[in-house]
Amino acid sequence: MGHRIVVARPMTEAVAARARTEFDAVLAADSAWDTEAVLHQLAAHEAEGLVTWVTIRMDAAAIARLRPSLRVIATCSVGFDHIDAAAARTRGIVVTNTPDVLTDCTADFTMLLLLAACRRAAEYDAIMRAGWARSYAVNEMLGLRASGKTLGILGMGRIGQAVARRARGFGMQVLYSDIRRLPAALEDGSEFVADFRAMLPRCQILSLHAPGGPETDRIMDRETFALLPRGAVFVNAARGALVDEEALIAALQSGHLFAAGLDVFRAEPAFDRRLATLPNVFLAPHMASATEETRTAMGMRALDNLAAVLGGRAPLDPV
Ligand code: DGY
Repeated sequence: MGHRIVVARPMTEAVAARARTEFDAVLAADSAWDTEAVLHQLAAHEAEGLVTWVTIRMDAAAIARLRPSLRVIATCSVGFDHIDAAAARTRGIVVTNTPDVLTDCTADFTMLLLLAACRRAAEYDAIMRAGWARSYAVNEMLGLRASGKTLGILGMGRIGQAVARRARGFGMQVLYSDIRRLPAALEDGSEFVADFRAMLPRCQILSLHAPGGPETDRIMDRETFALLPRGAVFVNAARGALVDEEALIAALQSGHLFAAGLDVFRAEPAFDRRLATLPNVFLAPHMASATEETRTAMGMRALDNLAAVLGGRAPLDPV
């Protein structure tokens, strides 16, 4: 029998099959398990490892309730702001994530959000579904050209860089802001702007790729939205916590923002439904990494991390 693990969300078939063969695994049958249910399953199974997901919050109080048998928490995500990693560390529990494998799909999806927002995809789709009633005049229902625009990226990690590569294919000028500047080879023509606020007035499109956490909480608020030029487009496939949604809604309603493409929200799945009433927003339910290939790769990477730690080796992706 392999090591005892709990997999807290249903996984792709390939990942579930591997979990069953390689481990003594309890697998969630649906997405209903919350933190309480996960803690219960871990205790009942005396689990040594947990594969978890972004919607299952493991704060310090939850970590304090984990049994001593638990040695590793592998989140099937690159973001790990739902886990108090410091609290886990003090209990000797290793926390791992799944970087790299979702970079391309997340960057592809960011371009989808960006293009959909610029080109009014949600409105066009709604017109077609309602039964396209009349043809439009040359000057009606016009979008915003995306090619050639200046794109600002907050957070130039792997995903930010992958978005920049794609944006260059659209002839965009790329600005970026981060806590440190990239080496020139990785910059590949992007311009570093150390001061995020100083970058904003130059961004015709702004895309967020910074992690969640206290440093970035509500980094986009009334003041920072106001620094964007009128008619800018806002894209977020990072974390909803980066945004003050009252300020975002106000900027969309006033026309200060032309449009937004959003995959993430402060409250998920109970997102602020006012966003869904705004025609100039393209919405997705936190799906940037959601392809068969990438979700399988993420699950496999989480299992690789469990196998390493439980086998007495160093984790591949400690956070
Ligand atoms: C992540 O990996 O952090 C995403 O938000 C979930 O795919």
